[in-house]
Amino acid sequence: MLKEVVVSGIRPTGYLHLGNYFGAMRNYVRMQDEYNCYFFVANWHSLTTHPDTRELKNSVHRVIAENIACGLDPEKVALYVQSDVPEIAELYLYLNMLAYKGELEKTATFKDKVRLQPENVNAGLLTYPVLMAADVLIQRAVKVPVGKDQEQHLEMARNFADRFNHRYGEVLPLPYAFNYGDELIKILSLDGIGKMSKSENQMATIYLADSDDHIRKKIMKAKTDQGPAEPNSIKPDYIQNLFTLMSQVSSKDTYQKFEDDFNASSEGNCIIRYGDMKKQLAEDMAQFIHPIREKAAAIQNDEVLLQKLMKQGAEKARERASETLKIIREAIGLNN
Ligand code: TRP
Repeated sequence: MLKEVVVSGIRPTGYLHLGNYFGAMRNYVRMQDEYNCYFFVANWHSLTTHPDTRELKNSVHRVIAENIACGLDPEKVALYVQSDVPEIAELYLYLNMLAYKGELEKTATFKDKVRLQPENVNAGLLTYPVLMAADVLIQRAVKVPVGKDQEQHLEMARNFADRFNHRYGEVLPLPYAFNYGDELIKILSLDGIGKMSKSENQMATIYLADSDDHIRKKIMKAKTDQGPAEPNSIKPDYIQNLFTLMSQVSSKDTYQKFEDDFNASSEGNCIIRYGDMKKQLAEDMAQFIHPIREKAAAIQNDEVLLQKLMKQGAEKARERASETLKIIREAIGLNN
């Protein structure tokens, strides 16, 4: 049976962290056997917000290396860099004629970015969802693993595809946002303020590139409190977050011990000691990230290997992309 096509992109702005790992990359790894996967580094997209490109190449290489270190197999999936696939840019051009200024201006992410960078409201920013639609439609993907914040973009991609099909003939399948439902876990920032994110409080974000010592320091500083006032209390979200992390990187027994301690009390005094819990979590997290960091560094430092991997990924991506473009040019009537 033909496998369904999956596309997803990661912007190379900043270092990848545990939120990316548990929210996205682990899903990718899981999808690579079931689906025909196209995963790429969205370096064109990053130009809409990061015109300074001094760090860009390095970041692109790091994202490729970290994805492989996390378990993506470049033999199974197409792992590539967006700018290596010029077919995307051509489809972007066609889709731009099907995208209306009004709907682009109403996009939530556009309005956010206008607020964040009022001095640089460029047309690329406005048409960010069109480029994203081109990324997806060029591979005729039907499933797109993305978080909640990207669902509006996917809806727009469906609209553009639908308009294309109406105007030029049924060519493009409609793509849908996809994840493994309730198994998706959310990682909060260690200071208890919002999601773990690339740019906010770095001391409260654990990066895949962090040293063992950095990981320990950050976890020991994570927000806690006096402990539960009575047995079987509801966990505040910053405490739940520590338990969530522990459930992913520690042994079942260790997790259960702290869970039991949290729920118990002795003569009205709570038993759990968050200092001990964080020490244990810090060790287990350091052990968990250590091999990923080492593997990513080894790949990133091997320029020959990296170039070979990116070339191989681009070839796979362009194979299907050029097929799509041929169909599209024909549908529009550009095959002179
Ligand atoms: N916009 C996505 C994000 O910020 C990244 C992205 C670009 C993407 N192109 C894509 C995701 C295509 C899925 C499919 O996270």
